[in-house]
Amino acid sequence: MSRAIQIAPSILSADFAHLADEIAAVERGGADFIHVDVMDGHFVPNLTIGPPVVRAIKRVATRPLDVHLMIDNPDLYLEQFVEAGAAMVSVHVEVLPHLHRTINHIKKLGAKAGAVLNPSTPAGALEDIAGDLDFVLVMSVNPGFGGQTFIPHSIDKLRRVRSVLDAAGSHATIEIDGGIDAANIATVVDAGASILVAGHAIFGNGNPEAATRALRAAAAR
Ligand code: DX5
Ligand code: ZN
Repeated sequence: MSRAIQIAPSILSADFAHLADEIAAVERGGADFIHVDVMDGHFVPNLTIGPPVVRAIKRVATRPLDVHLMIDNPDLYLEQFVEAGAAMVSVHVEVLPHLHRTINHIKKLGAKAGAVLNPSTPAGALEDIAGDLDFVLVMSVNPGFGGQTFIPHSIDKLRRVRSVLDAAGSHATIEIDGGIDAANIATVVDAGASILVAGHAIFGNGNPEAATRALRAAAAR
């Protein structure tokens, strides 16, 4: 596979009392990005972190921060997250009637812009925005919690997203998030995913450094 594969550990499953150590461990293991899950208790039934924590993570992380906004009104917070250190910002198409404006605002702020699709949102929702995107994030679980089971239909979804992007002449990268582990990672890579998010599979076994390496090795199989 000539396409570069990038591993993005999700700190949602990390030990928040030792976040700097957890981030250092995955970076030693070869993490390409640090995936940061922002939840507002409205769009998803969970609350996590906001810009002050992103700023603190930015002080210790050596890899770019990939900030996934699972919030109802992302437009209100884009400046704050980019100013706090987000290098990539992804927003859910389900909450954005003016997605084109939002995506271009993220890019103008200097971050890479991504559109996120929930499991039930069709790939076709990207047809008229494909050319503006730096990346697409395909959710392979319903967002809100770490440690959920991968939805197998996501494999077909990845292929459909790639064909929508190709039809628009877009070279946007495809990221996948939810239930990724050593058993399914090679399959999602084959279906078109290049950025692999994993939370439980990396932080759930007590050795995030080794788990990051193991996932990359499994992706190449
Ligand atoms: C889910 C989050 C994910 C989550 C992935 O709503 O967007 O990033 O942390 O965790 P796992 O890999 O445990 O499914
Ligand atoms: Zn996420």
